[in-house]
Amino acid sequence: MADVRAAILGTGRAYPEGILTNADLERMVETSDEWITSRTGIKERHRASESEYTSMFAVEASRQAIERARIDPIDLGLVICATVSPDQILPSTGCLIQAELGANRAAAFDLAAACSGFLYGLTLADMMIRTGQTRYALVIGAEVLSRYVDFTDRSTCILFGDGAGAAVLGPAEGDRGILSTKIYSDGRYAEQLYSPGGGTRVKPTAETLAQGMHYFKMKGNELFKMAVRSMADVSTEVLNEAGYKPEDVKLFIPHQANQRITDAVASRLNVDSSIVYSNIAYHGNTSSASVPIALDECIEKGKVSEGDLVLLASFGGGVTWGGALIKW
Ligand code: COA
Repeated sequence: MADVRAAILGTGRAYPEGILTNADLERMVETSDEWITSRTGIKERHRASESEYTSMFAVEASRQAIERARIDPIDLGLVICATVSPDQILPSTGCLIQAELGANRAAAFDLAAACSGFLYGLTLADMMIRTGQTRYALVIGAEVLSRYVDFTDRSTCILFGDGAGAAVLGPAEGDRGILSTKIYSDGRYAEQLYSPGGGTRVKPTAETLAQGMHYFKMKGNELFKMAVRSMADVSTEVLNEAGYKPEDVKLFIPHQANQRITDAVASRLNVDSSIVYSNIAYHGNTSSASVPIALDECIEKGKVSEGDLVLLASFGGGVTWGGALIKW
């Protein structure tokens, strides 16, 4: 099959109506709006109710992406749901989404690469389209992280939010589309951000639940430094591979983990802050959903025009990281 580039044909986003503000958190743990704002840039984050779950937001975001891409769900050959907070262990959330959408001819699965999940999925979808394995692919990042957040741990509960973003990919026209992608991991740092219990290593029991072993544990300081270095390096790599420089980029969407991480990556890359997108103030860190939610917001706000170079970068638990350069 011909080596056709893949392009993003449509995007969508969805999140719970429920909002958890810094003022709410002040009543839950010993913290302050001032500390959270100055250390992270976050003011509020969406939080799912007890009756809301991951695939609900994924399906809503996917429907928007499919409609904007003007395709029929039956034409999707691939559905990837990047998530570390699936509806359940079995079946995959990807299959549940596929059924809801009526994408009955698609291979569907979940992809666990934490905050880099969307960029991992984008990379796989790009490869499948380029090699002619499929014509259209749906890549979703969807999380209800609040189920795994310990709301007595002030170092993590202030950071994470719930939501989903989705993108439909298909064959690109002309010289547009995904120019380069890179994905990486280093499992030696697994315990920088992890949930020790709830799987086969420490099975979920009343005792492990009571001990909160299913909650995320994080070494924020270490991750901070790795996130800055990794996102800057992978961005440089995808730019070099496609023969571009940071000054050619019209829009840079880094994973929204912390405003100070975003600022440090932008300064390391030497890109102007005016091209760097941030929505951390009102979403917090939504893990795999962060980049596609931000991308959909940028499209809605008219921040991307045809021919623009769009740079995406992410870093997350695992640890994992990735980058992509797209000619819009
Ligand atoms: N409110 C008030 N004080 C807090 C607090 C909170 N919510 N959370 C932590 N602190 C305190 C700490 O207990 C510590 O107090 P101490 O000095 O008395 O021990 C102090 O603030 C500094 O903590 P530290 O962890 O060094 O703060 P930091 O500047 O590194 O900020 C993070 C913490 C979590 C915001 C920051 O490290 C971060 O964003 N890391 C990356 C996290 C991330 O991106 N994770 C996901 C991977 S994508």
